[in-house]
Amino acid sequence: MIKDDLQLLISERRARIGVIGLGYVGLPLIVEFCLKGFNAIGFEVDETKTAEVNAGRSYIVDVASENLKKCVDDGKLTATTDFSRLAECDVIIICVPTPLRKTKDPDMSYILTAGGEIQRYMRPGQLIILESTTYPGTTDEILQPMFEEKGFKLDVDFLLAFSPERVDPGNPQFQTHNIPKVVGGVSPDSTDIAAMLYGQIVDNVFPVSSARVAEAAKLWENTFRAINIGMANEMAKLCNALGIDTWEVVTAAATKPFGFMPFYPGPGIGGHCIPLDPHYLSWKARQHGFDSQFISLAEQVNSTMPAYVVELASTALNDDKKAVNGSKILILGVAYKKDIDDMRESPALSIIDLLRADGADVFYHDPFVPKVTFDHAYTIGDAEPLYNKELSDDLISNSDCVIICTEHSNVDYDRVCKLAPLVVDTRNALSSDLRDNSRARIVRL
Ligand SMILES: NC(=O)c1ccc[n+]([C@@H]2O[C@H](COP(=O)([O-])OP(=O)(O)OC[C@H]3O[C@@H](n4cnc5c(N)ncnc54)[C@H](O)[C@@H]3O)[C@@H](O)[C@H]2O)c1
Repeated sequence: MIKDDLQLLISERRARIGVIGLGYVGLPLIVEFCLKGFNAIGFEVDETKTAEVNAGRSYIVDVASENLKKCVDDGKLTATTDFSRLAECDVIIICVPTPLRKTKDPDMSYILTAGGEIQRYMRPGQLIILESTTYPGTTDEILQPMFEEKGFKLDVDFLLAFSPERVDPGNPQFQTHNIPKVVGGVSPDSTDIAAMLYGQIVDNVFPVSSARVAEAAKLWENTFRAINIGMANEMAKLCNALGIDTWEVVTAAATKPFGFMPFYPGPGIGGHCIPLDPHYLSWKARQHGFDSQFISLAEQVNSTMPAYVVELASTALNDDKKAVNGSKILILGVAYKKDIDDMRESPALSIIDLLRADGADVFYHDPFVPKVTFDHAYTIGDAEPLYNKELSDDLISNSDCVIICTEHSNVDYDRVCKLAPLVVDTRNALSSDLRDNSRARIVRL
């Protein structure tokens, strides 16, 4: 029986693990399996990534090259673009992107392509797990029929489950092994075996009754964040209108030991999850005649934040009798969040674009990001790429305004406050000490 066979292979760590897509999610996952003694094959369409993995060099901030190299040197891990090798795997885990189309509808093409490769090369006896974030119903409505079309039977020839990834890039406290894993199969056997598999590498596994529950749980989590960040952003605007310090208010509110969880305002939301995932849920809900108003409202508020930041900078420059047009503006931090290099959906892109459209001379410093490119299709200002500038005294003092978009740790904010004439802090990056002793005028979100 497939269940017994896989149980034995997994418990003896003889099951060979295949991971499709070696990005922020897939690479840490496959390395975790290998470090726990499993042999694994990574499947990628990007040859530069397979080459890097096979050379033992990590391109993901949370994966130490030392660990990756150990897996490769021990013969536990190999990466390939040859999908026929899927047949060698006992378990196949899909970690491909789930972006949005320009219309904000789910773009399922990556899941369909990965599913198609599995369909082509699968053999009886495999457990297939989807980890990509997606709308409830994807696993049983899209993947299951693809595999059944091949003539394979669920619970006899294959098992199928969904287990959402919760990795938080750049968070040293929570990594793959200590983030509880929700697992929902399309059949009880699928749930049991997938849960058992993750139990080998993760401290806590939480099985649920179906793949749909697991899919919905992930979207609930990220929609919760998007909505609460939306509220924090609205509160920041409200506090500014009332002349109250937003950060002092939220810090005070957060002293309540129950019934309150602090979320913080910022220049907008970014990354591959929070700006995208709620749309997967509202899209699916619309198909069932349900209009999710909180999601729409949060998106509306969050998407206005880059323009709000530009407005703050513009008003502050105006106070100095300067126009945005012709001003030199230094953006500090362009990645979408602290201490990582991920530029996907970063609000800094919109802020730079809006400032350039208004005629500003914009440059940036980000120790994690050497180059920023702009998608012509979405750009209203100059679409020329920008390159990281060294944070020299001249760079700071020659700028008319510094905007802190991302509060990376390894930036000398003290020097910035001593040399710049004006700093717009969208992240509460400047401590009260720095603010009190600053020569720069400071404007906070
Ligand atoms: N980044 C995060 O923090 C995070 C957290 C939780 C969940 N997720 C979800 O996990 C999924 C993957 O996200 P990610 O951040 O790892 O994306 P990513 O872009 O970093 O990685 C995806 C990888 O898949 C590869 N790929 C694309 N099509 C492929 C195919 N057909 N076959 C093999 N490889 C293919 C790409 O080249 C890329 O390397 C998404 O659904 C995302 O929403 C991401």
